[in-house]
Amino acid sequence: MDFKDLIKQRRSIRTFTPEAITPEEERALLRAALMAPSSKGKHSYFFKVVRDREQLTALSQCRDAGTQLLAEAAMAIVVMADPSITDIWVEDCASATSYILLQAEDMGLGGCWVQVRNRGKEDGTQAQDIVKQVLSIPAEYQVLSMVALGHKAIERNPQNEDKLLWDHVL
Ligand SMILES: Cc1cc2nc3c(=O)[nH]c(=O)nc-3n(C[C@H](O)[C@H](O)[C@H](O)COP(=O)(O)O)c2cc1C
Repeated sequence: MDFKDLIKQRRSIRTFTPEAITPEEERALLRAALMAPSSKGKHSYFFKVVRDREQLTALSQCRDAGTQLLAEAAMAIVVMADPSITDIWVEDCASATSYILLQAEDMGLGGCWVQVRNRGKEDGTQAQDIVKQVLSIPAEYQVLSMVALGHKAIERNPQNEDKLLWDHVL
């Protein structure tokens, strides 16, 4: 698909079929993530693939809302960084998250960004602390997001060209 069409087609997908993501598709997603631009080319981002159903369910409970889709995703890629590499790791991780979403769309897979950084439960628990505990991620890493991935259970309309916020172009 032409890139102009790809970015128009990409929408957040939150419902998935039970079909698995192949190892080749997984590698393509990670390849894209590792090619994402990073500050000074330092690649501060790190990734963890999660396929285990119990872990996906546990991750889906890291916030009170907005994370349930992980429970039925075929896979998640946790996007994190070693902040000792750069102080602008958030931007590096955001860049990688976007690349994963675009690669997923290119392969006909559905995906959705699930925010972890600065989010948590009403009881004060930080989403990141739950994610790190579930996946035994070392304390020094900072988690930005998780990308929920799978085969689309629904097709969504592409982006509406008529609703683009051209007035945001100053
Ligand atoms: C920084 C960021 C955080 C997001 N966090 C979540 C999230 O936690 N849960 C979720 O279901 N969607 C999340 N999304 C997806 C947005 O809700 C979605 O991109 C937006 O509604 C536009 O829809 P579209 O992606 O279909 O164009 C996030 C998107 C971004 C860019």
